[in-house]
Amino acid sequence: METLKRYPFRQNDLLQAWDSADELILKHMHSLDLSGKRILIINDQFGAISCGLINFDLTSYSDSFVSTKALLINSHQKILPLHDLNQLSGFYDYVLIQLPKNLSYFEDILCHLTHHLNSSSQIICGSMVKHLASGSFDLLNKYIGITSTSLAQKKARLIFANFQKEKVDSPYPLKVKFEMFEQEIVNHSNLFSREKLDIGTRFLLEHIPKGDFETILDLGCANGIVGIMAKKMNPKAKLVFSDESQMAIQSARINFQHYYPDEADYHWTNCFENQPKNSLDLVLCNPPFHQSNTIGDFIAWQMFQDARDVLKTGAVLRVIGNSHLGYQIKLKKLFGNSKVIATNSKFMIVDAVK
Ligand SMILES: C[S@@+](CC[C@H](N)C(=O)[O-])C[C@H]1O[C@@H](n2cnc3c(N)ncnc32)[C@H](O)[C@@H]1O
Repeated sequence: METLKRYPFRQNDLLQAWDSADELILKHMHSLDLSGKRILIINDQFGAISCGLINFDLTSYSDSFVSTKALLINSHQKILPLHDLNQLSGFYDYVLIQLPKNLSYFEDILCHLTHHLNSSSQIICGSMVKHLASGSFDLLNKYIGITSTSLAQKKARLIFANFQKEKVDSPYPLKVKFEMFEQEIVNHSNLFSREKLDIGTRFLLEHIPKGDFETILDLGCANGIVGIMAKKMNPKAKLVFSDESQMAIQSARINFQHYYPDEADYHWTNCFENQPKNSLDLVLCNPPFHQSNTIGDFIAWQMFQDARDVLKTGAVLRVIGNSHLGYQIKLKKLFGNSKVIATNSKFMIVDAVK
């Protein structure tokens, strides 16, 4: 495990690429006879579980580009994870899940799984005790069967459930009506603010600039409504969407195509890394403040750096954030300038010009 790396790899990063829940899952699996068994691994954060079981018949699934990339690197390209739950096939004997925080996403996963389990299949979920939510047990009981748990070790715990229920179709994606949009918006289960319009997003939607933009990037697009509004305000612009969640990219694509027949570009990637420099006229960004369970402004900071790289000279990055996050200070450090263009009781919209 010591050789595993997080992605993106940062020199002097003290955070390791696995946690005690990964260790507990592997310890349990290595105590079983796995010959001839099909194993499915879901949400392996940096590939620790998959790499630990690489010699068995395994399939890995992740919605996250960052996790996918880490798994590819850590397995030396030997494991190519699936990134769509509809790609699951056949029946699995063991399904190992790093419990996601997002219960809608967990529900979506479990509903898909009911089509790929039989009466001898077992689900084993791993989690740090502090992240265990009672809702996860409720969903396992509802869709899979009675649960039991392991003793906690190094602050992690396993939940076991044997499949005893029926096949069910997933209620996701959701179709949601927002008053600012004529058409229903399609939201996959692992999306930011999938049931209602986030108040920060709403504030940004009210401050989309109009101008002579040829290309506009919706950076961290989720369902793409920021980009759709940008297109509405700037009909001649070509839109680019990026997100590290595959479900976000799928939702943005469906939603944009409901409104506009023109082609847009969609990038499933980390922030907007490795893209052509000096190529965009406007970047709009409502940055995340966590990646999986790791909280911090490190993603926002990388998004700002990537935006600076891809913007043409004189072009603008427009960012929204909670006022206490101080994005105007961070942007000034990076761009040499920043301007607060709107505030309300909670949020601030800031421009930085390249
Ligand atoms: C606060 S949400 C904003 C969503 C949408 N733009 C809005 O304003 O409603 C942040 C988005 O960033 C995405 N994200 C998180 N980490 C990312 C990364 N490393 N690279 C690209 N996108 C990321 C999340 O999946 C999420 O869709």
